[in-house]
Amino acid sequence: MKNLAVAGTGYVGLVTGVCMAENGHNVTCVDIDEQKVKTMRDGISPIYEVGLEELMRKNIEAGRLHFTMDYSSAYKEADAVFIGVGTPEKEDGSANLQYVETVAKQIAESVAKDCLIVIKSTVPIGTNDKIAELINKSLVNDVKVEVASNPEFLAQGSAVKDTLEAARIVIGTESEWAENLLTEIYAPFNLPIVSVNRRSAEMVKYASNDFLALKISYMNDIANLCELVGADIQDVAEGMSYDDRIGSKFLNAGIGYGGSCFPKDTSALEYLARQYGYDLRTMQATIKINSEQKLKLYEKAKQRLETFEGIKVAVLGLTFKPGTDDLREAPSLANVPLLLEQGADIYAYDPIGVDNFKQFYSEGSHGQGNITYVDSPEDALKGAAACLIFTEWGEIKAVTPNQYKDLMQTPLVFDGRNIYNVQEMADNGVEYHSIGRPV
Ligand code: UGA
Repeated sequence: MKNLAVAGTGYVGLVTGVCMAENGHNVTCVDIDEQKVKTMRDGISPIYEVGLEELMRKNIEAGRLHFTMDYSSAYKEADAVFIGVGTPEKEDGSANLQYVETVAKQIAESVAKDCLIVIKSTVPIGTNDKIAELINKSLVNDVKVEVASNPEFLAQGSAVKDTLEAARIVIGTESEWAENLLTEIYAPFNLPIVSVNRRSAEMVKYASNDFLALKISYMNDIANLCELVGADIQDVAEGMSYDDRIGSKFLNAGIGYGGSCFPKDTSALEYLARQYGYDLRTMQATIKINSEQKLKLYEKAKQRLETFEGIKVAVLGLTFKPGTDDLREAPSLANVPLLLEQGADIYAYDPIGVDNFKQFYSEGSHGQGNITYVDSPEDALKGAAACLIFTEWGEIKAVTPNQYKDLMQTPLVFDGRNIYNVQEMADNGVEYHSIGRPV
């Protein structure tokens, strides 16, 4: 059992802290937000994540999980401090390291015994080296402090499972001491450990996320071609998926990837490459395809309807994917303003994303258009002349083809997630437009 501190209680930090406690370590999570710390002490999670609150409560009760604003005490006695603060994208596409640097300085000023700083935040290649320098410059006590890279591969909606049952743990260290300590911390997880140097570990994270983003953009590119040549992207994906060199996951064409990771990490690597004078063409193409793909649904609907003026439009799903209330880079946010601008009367449904969406578009009129939030897909569909599906929530998938026919004024559906069988929709009298498949 080790004494661990975790800096930042966002997705990465909180889930790391809770899962470390679940594996027997004594963990103190640090955050600067007093209210957040108070509620976390009561076992209430600031983020929606399956299974997280149960584990929080269990480990708080067991006395292994603590929350504090007092970073100095938390870092002082820690064997290792995990940094999980955000690295948001700057306007030029680079990663903003200000939070990581602030925390690193605080750690350097607080540690009173040998300590390993473990960077879990996604940071550009070379950042671990810079942070190590910064820490050694700012150290107050005569102790050994080293920096290790330990990228995080959890996905929102399955964060706890992805951490406790990760496919691999990647650790990037520059000394045997650091490698051994981190290996010991992860030993109770009983998972494969890939031990490399710091720069390679940093690159594994970007290369993994960016490869997945590329896979999605590739499928979207092929989907657009399928529409032109009369092929069906879902059949194509199935045919590809049996080849385990390709794999069966992340082959779903749709309206592009969103979220806090792929958009940011594709831009960050492309930016980093440019700093080295290299054109990372795969990422340039991935990013371009994705931004165009996000508007596909609006464009299809616009082409078919010509105008949205006064038309009742059901919008099903707002979040960037199911299982989260996160709207960052969600395709809905790219399409809804265009619909409103064109005078659409939107009835929107999302099982948990509505409160966040209201921060962008409050209920009521916006220019020519109007938006009303409803509690079920059925309420959104009643009397609608068109329906746009942005997220494949279970609640939305449960709507049957027949219901579109019965509830809508005109059963005209634009599906950005290819939820339905094309033939079944046609058999039920629904005019169905999806991605990369015949109408
Ligand atoms: C992603 C990665 O999957 C995680 O491994 C990684 O740790 C995480 O980023 C991170 O860097 O923190 P996440 O952004 O939570 O996780 O969500 P994903 O499930 O990967 O989905 C991202 C987007 O891709 C969603 O908008 C989803 O709809 C879209 N997607 C996914 C597709 O359009 N097609 C697919 O086949 C799969």
